[in-house]
Amino acid sequence: MVMSDYLRLGVNIDHVATVRNARGSDHPDPVDAAILAEEAGADGITAHLREDRRHIRDRDIARLKETLKVPLNLEMAATGEMQQIALKHKPHAICLVPERRQERTTEAGLDVFGQKETLGEYIKPLQNTGCRISLFVGTDLKQIRAAAEVGAQVVEIHTGPYCEAQHDGLDQAISRELDKIKKAAQVAHEFGLEVHAGHGLTFQSVREIASIGIIRELNIGHFLIGEAIFSGLKEAVQAMRQTMDEARNGQ
Ligand code: PXP
Repeated sequence: MVMSDYLRLGVNIDHVATVRNARGSDHPDPVDAAILAEEAGADGITAHLREDRRHIRDRDIARLKETLKVPLNLEMAATGEMQQIALKHKPHAICLVPERRQERTTEAGLDVFGQKETLGEYIKPLQNTGCRISLFVGTDLKQIRAAAEVGAQVVEIHTGPYCEAQHDGLDQAISRELDKIKKAAQVAHEFGLEVHAGHGLTFQSVREIASIGIIRELNIGHFLIGEAIFSGLKEAVQAMRQTMDEARNGQ
């Protein structure tokens, strides 16, 4: 496989922390899980430091930054507090996501268009310390264009609606959502943005997404951590890696 075809796998370890926090102890340790994922072939580790610290905590970010060999992608909301934390730890990449306290997980993409001025100013100091800025967006082309205009280097396209359609076996919705992702990826690429994707991906739903050649990185969390209960984390990551590679090669 030529290197430009390579599809990176970022493993999101948030839900190891969810299990840890359920008992208020230090087990299972998300940093240990990140090391295992790294050994199993993850190209990066993603962690979402939420405002309410429901899973990943501040100390996890510090320890991940100290420990990891692969790049750390810090997911966060565009708040002043998070900007200070990111400036302190200088992760390789930052993915800005919208955050609502009541949501179970990140439900929608960021409204980049509606906050173009403020986002542009917000990301500048982060980029000045060397962080790559990714904006988590839906497939609305207006948002993709706005991401390019504010100067982000990357967009991560929300695959949640596609994965839900897959899960529910809704053929029309599956092809509609897939078309939207393909179109958004193409437009983002034409604007010079690197294209990532993620949310809700499973062994089944990853196949079509991995076969979109423009997409360079997938971020996958909940399914892999759930699957680890049955097979172990290493096996789950390796199986996802293999599924992605096969789909990428048209197998
Ligand atoms: N990408 C982003 C921006 C996310 O917010 C999440 C969820 O934290 C993911 C990817 C991973 O989603 P999932 O845990 O459903 O695989």
